[in-house]
Amino acid sequence: MSHPNSPVGILDSGIGGFSVVKQVQRLLPEEELLYFGDGAHIPYGNHPEERIAALARYMFRFMEEREVKALLVACNTISCLLDRWEDTAACPVFSAVQAGADAVSGLEVDKVGVISTVFTHRAGIYPQKILAQSPRKLVVLSCGCPDLARLVEHSLGDPARMVRVEEELRRELGPMVLEDEVDCCVLGCTHYPLVADRIRRLYPDLLLIDPAEEMARALEAHLDREGLRAAREGPGSLTVYTTGDVAEYALRARQVGLERVAGVEHYPPMAL
Ligand code: DGL
Repeated sequence: MSHPNSPVGILDSGIGGFSVVKQVQRLLPEEELLYFGDGAHIPYGNHPEERIAALARYMFRFMEEREVKALLVACNTISCLLDRWEDTAACPVFSAVQAGADAVSGLEVDKVGVISTVFTHRAGIYPQKILAQSPRKLVVLSCGCPDLARLVEHSLGDPARMVRVEEELRRELGPMVLEDEVDCCVLGCTHYPLVADRIRRLYPDLLLIDPAEEMARALEAHLDREGLRAAREGPGSLTVYTTGDVAEYALRARQVGLERVAGVEHYPPMAL
């Protein structure tokens, strides 16, 4: 039974979900947040489906044991699997891909680009959902980036490494913007909004869609509907768990500008 002061869970293969944490902290500062980043197994986007599903279930169990009142799957790659699962979790689950598609449905655009991991691209769920939901006749182009999430994960704040990120952005996103001339681009991997400033510098006229904003709004609407908004004196804190490097996660949390970080703790990775 969910309680208003139960935490909200947010998970990703790595630090990408910090882009979602940021939006949730902005919109719902009173909520207590638990974050799980599976740093030991990133990048998920290059794994086969069975492995992604097993790794995701491991994180779902972690969150269920902590009795979260809602779970934000801040990983587009995992979100692609949610519609195929008969059971997901004991609490309401929010999908990054659904949020991205919802965000597009309100726009007056004709040609939509989606950049994502290779798995998300091949799954084809983004074009499917965007086309099914749009009242307009749209063209949706999708591009899978094999290395961009991993590069972002380990490059924030390091100018030399960020040069690699920019090269990768030019190679993967460039053709969609300069040749196909998309009207907007969905950042279909939660790592990419963490380098949105770089993307804006490269392509200043491109409208960027960050599903994180829509995810935070969907969570807010759900909590209001169910009477589950946290009722505590003062703002809630954030505890980060990772199967990866604790010091690196603490640094990334600061770089991304996350607030009220109560702790960054190690959690044993699922054995493969
Ligand atoms: N951040 C994740 C996503 O949104 C995946 C990155 C990865 O592990 O490949 O898809």
